Amino acid sequence: MGGGIHRTHIAQLRDKIASGLFPQWVITDPSIFELEMETIFSKTWQFLGHESEINNPGDYVTRWMVNDPVLLVRSQDGEVRAYLNSCTHRGAQLCTADRGNRSTFTCPYHGWTFQSDGALIGVTLGNKVYGEELRREEWGLRPIPRVESYHGMIFGNLSRDAESLTEYLGDMTWYLDLLVGRTPGGVEVIGAPHRWVVDANWKVTYENFAGDPYHVVTTHSSTVEVGISPRAAELPPRIGYHVALERGHAMNLSVFRDTPEHPYQGMPSELWSLFGEKLNDIQLDLLRRSSIFTGGIYPTLSFDSAPHGYEGDFRNFLNFRVWRPLGPDKVEIWSWFMVEKEASDTYKEESYQAYISSFGPSGTLEQDDTENWARVVQASRGWMARDKDLSYNNVYNYLMGFGRIEPDPLFPGPGTAYVGFNDNTSRLIQQVWLDYISSVVEEVNQ
Ligand code: FES
Ligand SMILES: [Fe+2]
Repeated sequence: MGGGIHRTHIAQLRDKIASGLFPQWVITDPSIFELEMETIFSKTWQFLGHESEINNPGDYVTRWMVNDPVLLVRSQDGEVRAYLNSCTHRGAQLCTADRGNRSTFTCPYHGWTFQSDGALIGVTLGNKVYGEELRREEWGLRPIPRVESYHGMIFGNLSRDAESLTEYLGDMTWYLDLLVGRTPGGVEVIGAPHRWVVDANWKVTYENFAGDPYHVVTTHSSTVEVGISPRAAELPPRIGYHVALERGHAMNLSVFRDTPEHPYQGMPSELWSLFGEKLNDIQLDLLRRSSIFTGGIYPTLSFDSAPHGYEGDFRNFLNFRVWRPLGPDKVEIWSWFMVEKEASDTYKEESYQAYISSFGPSGTLEQDDTENWARVVQASRGWMARDKDLSYNNVYNYLMGFGRIEPDPLFPGPGTAYVGFNDNTSRLIQQVWLDYISSVVEEVNQ
């Protein structure tokens, strides 16, 4: 357990993170990745999909919880269920399609057939080969131990003992209300999620959305220059809040001081009165003045919602994405476009265009980010960068605002809010990460 990671490494990490530094060797170290699999991905809530992707009985999608394949299905009784997508006979991947509608699933290997409630209902040659020996009721699909949802966002957890999803989300529920629960109908997913593989470490990508608006100034400057992102200097005054939440969740908001010309992130006016039906006055005021949201639900779900367009004609979009780790230096990105069910078809199309041209595999801002994340792992694989003794002083800098910036007591939402650029949220996320991975090492490696 923990491979080459010992208590001395944990002590070093504790010391460095407390000092606003993060050792570079951590990024590409395979033992760290193994520890993360064991201590983080085995027990945290991970996003599987949205209920609107499986509206009707028999609808299904196939997903992953890191390396565990998942069959997410709405069974004939209308319940959302999730199973390990692995046949109970000899383990073959049961369903190989991305999505569809079926009442039964037949394994391609020896033909066992399962119902959407998981029951084994068909065995090739049945009684002829097994006689009375096969008790079908013992060979149903294996359910993912915990499946719960919030505003239609379905999460799974591999640990039976995990706290409930709403407990795990904690104060993030207040912000999820703003993002996906702001109208009576809620949001729906349009199309299938895009997915593609990039060279990156999941901690870097998660932190990019959760705690690093600083990168926008440089990485995305060209999108302002060509006129596809708004020019900050031409907008009314805004405040940038980093909100650090418990368990590594985070929210960043760019909020106008006063109600702007295009309130509610520029969303169409026919939705405004619906927001008032679902949100309390504080949430409503914050949404009215908001421009951009980014953030994350630890460990692998991130979101962004921003205006994008051309020559001042901007549309807002809402994008959720999972960083599925494929190793220490690879991530499969799964990216969903979501929009209010009540929005007009015209707005849905315009919002989709804003998403697809900025994020997703063809997005301009996405490509800006991807290039840099790849460079982080490329530059972290060598001898110097992987030196665990830190004799080359190979630590990353998380010193922005260290010991200087106090939380803003006037911020109206829950969590600890810091104003302006700082690394406070990132340091808290690193602390959460360390608490997870250190538990096993401290027990085992004396
Ligand atoms: S592995 Fe599925 S039927 Fe044999
Ligand atoms: Fe970015």
